[in-house]
Amino acid sequence: MENRSIVSIADYSRDKIQYLLNMATEFEAHPNRQLLRGKVVATLFFEPSTRTRLSFETAANRLGARVIGFSDPKATSSSKGETLKDTIKMVSNYADVIVMRHKLEGAALYASEVTDVPIINAGDGSNLHPSQTMLDLYSIYKTQGKLDNLNIYMVGDLKYGRTVHSLLMSMRKYSPTFHFIAPKELEMPEEYKLYCQQKGIKYVEQQDFTEDTIADADILYMTRVQRERFTDLMEYERVKDAYILKADMLGKCKENMKILHPLPRVNEIEYAVDDSKHAYYFEQAQNGLYARQALICDVLGITLDDVKNDTTII
Ligand code: CP
Repeated sequence: MENRSIVSIADYSRDKIQYLLNMATEFEAHPNRQLLRGKVVATLFFEPSTRTRLSFETAANRLGARVIGFSDPKATSSSKGETLKDTIKMVSNYADVIVMRHKLEGAALYASEVTDVPIINAGDGSNLHPSQTMLDLYSIYKTQGKLDNLNIYMVGDLKYGRTVHSLLMSMRKYSPTFHFIAPKELEMPEEYKLYCQQKGIKYVEQQDFTEDTIADADILYMTRVQRERFTDLMEYERVKDAYILKADMLGKCKENMKILHPLPRVNEIEYAVDDSKHAYYFEQAQNGLYARQALICDVLGITLDDVKNDTTII
């Protein structure tokens, strides 16, 4: 059987992305259904999470599946030395789909190679976070009415931020112009800049972050400086507050500019920004529920037609 794992969505076609956006739209209209009755979804979180785990679990629950899993690997046999391979093979005996977050880059790809049960990558180290990307695309599509020809400003930790890496690659078919705004220590890694060059994606790098520099943004994608990825905590202290979005920086921005952030936030968006019409990060997190319902259905072979013709809506 074809392995339907979602390790990355970087190579998804425009049609495939639109198909998933349409499915997410269906779920936003009617999130409570019994489409997954009899299915078991496992959530294996080897790294901390609030939104990703809970929205995947809510997505499964609202579709009638049952959920097993863990959020603390210390409470599992991996703390006794069980390998990831054995853990995945074991859980494959119990679940129809496995959602996994792991600190090691490539862990989701590896997991997908040792089982026929579909794996959904819920974040692998600093590498990729495809389900976040799907909800980001859904949020951009909902707010801008399109994905094409947008000015997307990525700010903060562009070195370790898997959400920006995933989003950058997935938008390549939509002619974006990226602005990378990061301190020197956290700038976009060469491999992603090379990717942009090879794929003809326009980007500019800058270090200033003012009312004027963000005036042309359609999407301002803020990110947290990720303390957990630093080996030198002195360096973290030096850069952690490099870019803070303040409410008084929004005076010149486009009318429909939206601020996204994968969350959690630490200091990088001041609380006063939450009251702005531009703030969209909490709605973005809510969109994660519908996007993840679409992804779970997709890996289980449930089609958009199945969703449209579904008679199990509650
Ligand atoms: N956006 C995101 O991945 O959040 P969590 O770490 O809370 O899952």
